[in-house]
Amino acid sequence: ERMPALLRAMPKAELHMHIEGSLEPEQMFAFAQRNRVPLAWPSAQAVREAYVFDNLQSFLDIYHAGTLVLKTEQDFYDMACAYLQRAQADNVTHAELFFDTQTHTGHGLSAETVVNGLHRACMDAPAQFGMTASLILCFLRHLSEAEAFECLEQVLPLGDKIVGIGLASSEVGHPPEKFARVFARAGQLGYRLVAHAGEEGPAAYIWSALDVLKVERIDHGVQAMTDAALMQRLAQDRIPLTVCPLSNLKLRVYPSLTQHSIGRMLEAGMVATINSDDPAYFGGYMNENFTQTFAALQLGSQQAYQLARNSFEASFIGAAERALQM
Ligand code: HPA
Ligand code: ZN
Repeated sequence: ERMPALLRAMPKAELHMHIEGSLEPEQMFAFAQRNRVPLAWPSAQAVREAYVFDNLQSFLDIYHAGTLVLKTEQDFYDMACAYLQRAQADNVTHAELFFDTQTHTGHGLSAETVVNGLHRACMDAPAQFGMTASLILCFLRHLSEAEAFECLEQVLPLGDKIVGIGLASSEVGHPPEKFARVFARAGQLGYRLVAHAGEEGPAAYIWSALDVLKVERIDHGVQAMTDAALMQRLAQDRIPLTVCPLSNLKLRVYPSLTQHSIGRMLEAGMVATINSDDPAYFGGYMNENFTQTFAALQLGSQQAYQLARNSFEASFIGAAERALQM
């Protein structure tokens, strides 16, 4: 068929993926072995079979268990390189990687270990994988404002190894407002700002991510479809939405991909993009997200072009680099 070939071949940017969510079960076992960390599962196959989720929290619990095998700077480097290689195979020419340090500092690692390993992989991406990559640090919203401030302090000495700040983890009950002051500080420091909003949480969280946190992009944002005024705001201000269809399916935000709103988002003139979120957990990398979504919603080449174009417009690549990529 022509459509899947076009979707696979077209250059695209990935703007919403958590690098810890790219850890494949086989690699999880390899790291567990080399770091002598016990795992709760007997085999990689058993890990895969455990990946059945009811909602965001049920995923976050198992995702957290997987991060326990990460111990050294080399682990973070190797994990990021494995992702970049898969992204290159999907014709991703630019990727912005989410990561969090709070998970790992909670296990006794330093923020520096995490950032240095990931950053070295990003630096090697052009030569090794023919693509560019950069890093966005996500605060964990189930933790306190004070802990987010502490996290920000820890990465300040690492300077421009991190291009942006985001907000992830359990959404409902942890509204953007909780992080108003630390986002204001991050903005003053020159970080680009994004936040997960409207994945499971209400449209009101998208409004406050925009108006209180002053983010430039919304991660997920699918609950905007319940609020016509918000849809109009997002379209008019060309606020990008980093949508993750297979994630939404696996976390039961939609009962089936045929119900997904991304087609309607594009029709409404919203700057939607397709991304993989946690590809090792949700059943696919970029091209799998594109091909399954296009098949379910019967989208065509016009939408493919729009989504690819949106991904570069929404990226934090510099204007000069962007002209080269498009
Ligand atoms: N939502 C919130 N937090 C996350 C996600 C997500 O989809 N993936 C990893 N952390
Ligand atoms: Zn996410």
